[in-house]
Amino acid sequence: MKRLIFVGLICCTSLIRAQDDSKYRPVIHFTPPQYWMNDPNGMIYHEGTYHLFYQHHPYSSVWGPMHWGHATSRDLIKWEHQPIALFPDKNGMIFSGSAVYDKNNTSGLGKNDKGPLVAIFTYHNDSLAKQGSYIFQKQGIAYSNDDGKTWTKYDGNPVLKNPGIKDFRDPKVFWHDASKKWIMTLAVFDRLHFYGSNDLKTWNKLSEFGVGFGVPNVLWECPDLFSMKYMDKTIWVLLSNINPGGPNKGSSTQYFIGEFDGQTFKPFDKEIRWADFGPDEYAGITWSNTGDRKIFTGWMSNWLYAQLVPTETWRSALTIARDLELKYVNGKYYLASMPVKELNAYKEKALPAQNGSWIFKKSALFEANQLPVEDFQIEISNEKGEVVTIGYEKASNNFYIDRIKTGNINFHKEFPQKSLSKRISFAQSINFKLIIDVASIELFADDGLNTMSSIFFPTTPLSKIKVKTATKGNANDYRCFELLSALQ
Ligand code: FRU
Repeated sequence: MKRLIFVGLICCTSLIRAQDDSKYRPVIHFTPPQYWMNDPNGMIYHEGTYHLFYQHHPYSSVWGPMHWGHATSRDLIKWEHQPIALFPDKNGMIFSGSAVYDKNNTSGLGKNDKGPLVAIFTYHNDSLAKQGSYIFQKQGIAYSNDDGKTWTKYDGNPVLKNPGIKDFRDPKVFWHDASKKWIMTLAVFDRLHFYGSNDLKTWNKLSEFGVGFGVPNVLWECPDLFSMKYMDKTIWVLLSNINPGGPNKGSSTQYFIGEFDGQTFKPFDKEIRWADFGPDEYAGITWSNTGDRKIFTGWMSNWLYAQLVPTETWRSALTIARDLELKYVNGKYYLASMPVKELNAYKEKALPAQNGSWIFKKSALFEANQLPVEDFQIEISNEKGEVVTIGYEKASNNFYIDRIKTGNINFHKEFPQKSLSKRISFAQSINFKLIIDVASIELFADDGLNTMSSIFFPTTPLSKIKVKTATKGNANDYRCFELLSALQ
């Protein structure tokens, strides 16, 4: 009898767990079909399809032997899961990296006069690491001649050996037209290395960047170098994810603005800029092969507590895909990011306001335009009084997201926090968009100059948005849309 009760209890607990899991699954953000996910990898647009790969442990809800999971989309919002693209092999696990379209078949790995897609990734050999060796990370490539469906590892791997440095990973590659070569940006402990290649198979070191720049004494990971247009100028942006050292603790994406001559990156200044100030955007990089359009996607979690969050059958989501733009503020360039315009197709008609509040089901887009630069506060809550609060404080000139009262917060001591983001814009009015999706919120303020992502875990769903503003509480300044589910 005791045994029966025990078995019954176990069944019940796992049922409750399974229910808990599904109650936190977002409806408009990408999540893995099951178990663990961290960084987005090798994101590439090809022949009308967006291919997303990601760090994946398909057999456990915590980090482990890394695979490249795969999903495809036509619009960056609705995803179709695909078979795993890259499995660990005798060289090691498949860590983060990028993918390019080798249009001119410089690698010779194409077929029938067609250039291949080439993935460039890090091999991480865990047994070497455990033996105390320093050379356990090296770069490998794989190619696809069926538009990203299946991938073959190059038999001449590794293409870049380890020179004796422990952290030597996360290659991000692009074609540099001016110097007619491939450029790889690699994270090497507390800095970046740049390499050049004509064929993606042999790489020569070009230069280093990082000493004296950015947050000191932290690990640099998942870098990305790309150019953007501002008026008639070409400006270079260098992203470098760091762990820890983020503006609101733990992992985060810092970036630099400057110039690149095919050899060396020179920043215009020493300011540390952040692609997202919230606690839950990491490993963010841009999509490949999208022309002048620059699209950014990050992992919506933080290494501080990612492996402890209260979901077990699947773990963590990616940020909404974001269009990047350069803005010039007070003599300096900054990145601005906004949700991709494809999200608009998921907007249902505007929800009516009732006494300054809106009721939504699972996911909502909430917008405000032309607010005066005064304190404002918006509460998103459930009937139990659990609440996430976002707002702006004029005295400190900070935007904020406060998740201290969001229900399930005790799985890590750093989780309950109010995150701050110093306002960058000097504009006379504030506009913002909020994407709320079951267990996450993303704030895009001042046309994306200040962006913040934060996850949370209420015990019952949040469904009410209320504007609480001292000086101005006019609901007509705001618009709220239910978002359609993008789940299959
Ligand atoms: C960043 C990171 C990368 C590494 C991958 C391993 O989150 O640590 O540097 O390639 O995750 O999963």
